[in-house]
Amino acid sequence: MDKVALKEIAEKLVAKNKGILAADESTGTITKRFESIGITSTPELNRKYRQMLFSTPKIEEFISGVIMFDETVKQKNDEGIAFPEYLSQRGIIPGIKVDEGKEPFQNDKEEVTKGLKGLSERLLEYKKMELKFTKWRAVVYIDQIYPSIEAILENAKRLAEYAKISQENGFVPIVEPEVLMEGEHTITKCEIVTKLVLKTVFEELEKKQVFLEGLLLKTNMVLPGKKSLVKAEPKEAAQFSLRALEATVPEEVPGIVFLSGGQSSEEAVANLNGINEEGDKYPWELSFSFGRALQSSALDAWKGEENNATMAQEVFYEVARSTSLARQGKYKVEVKE
Ligand code: 13P
Repeated sequence: MDKVALKEIAEKLVAKNKGILAADESTGTITKRFESIGITSTPELNRKYRQMLFSTPKIEEFISGVIMFDETVKQKNDEGIAFPEYLSQRGIIPGIKVDEGKEPFQNDKEEVTKGLKGLSERLLEYKKMELKFTKWRAVVYIDQIYPSIEAILENAKRLAEYAKISQENGFVPIVEPEVLMEGEHTITKCEIVTKLVLKTVFEELEKKQVFLEGLLLKTNMVLPGKKSLVKAEPKEAAQFSLRALEATVPEEVPGIVFLSGGQSSEEAVANLNGINEEGDKYPWELSFSFGRALQSSALDAWKGEENNATMAQEVFYEVARSTSLARQGKYKVEVKE
């Protein structure tokens, strides 16, 4: 394992004012996203959409890396350049989601993430495509009874195994245990569950001797459940999130990248800004790996029409700029006349 190379890639992904664009929607998820604006996903329309995002002028000022789905890494832009190569040429690090979604867990109520079978072989193929990092997402639901400790442990074991296999093959793993925002729970319950999940994940990573300097943690912000109808102010979201991380994340980890998890762009940016206003006190870079919060306004502007591409890129650029400011704790709501 080339530890120096892994550490260097991980650090570049969380470079000072930059973060990651998560554009790794699976076929099912991109279909849902497109349906929300009244269009039908096809491989060609997916390609056009990703091309619009990736070719946005000057986006490399704010975006260090892009996570893609298997379909996208095998596609090319209109000039015939494969997307991973195109992104590399622009100084953006290309990465790939390698989990294969969820499967039912023993108790039939919860789910665990699958994809370990054949992972090494898939990574050998991805190695030839300039891809430098991988992502694996495990999902934790909160309700009156769940999550169970058994499901948390099984997901953590698989995350650790995935991270180990990724590093052995030269990829920086983005280890993503996501405590979902859906549900009626309080912010305190989210904090308790997030701490338990992260503690378990790092115990498993250490048991497998995963190289912590050569990975990134992708996690949820600690927030009240959506159905509770309670909103946390950015200062509160920051206080709860940072407390959970401080209790569980070793200082060797170079960076923590937050997912947006169904928050609006405005909320995700405001909360990331709140977190970074306190960021100097902590050992890790505190950055972003947003999917929906970075894409939703651009998707609305694009609407599947080539003619809207330039306008959609302008929208995407502005959201990425705000997110980059928030990643530095410098975002201010701009009041437009
Ligand atoms: P969201 O920011 O939309 O939650 O997506 C991030 C992601 O990659 C989830 O795995």
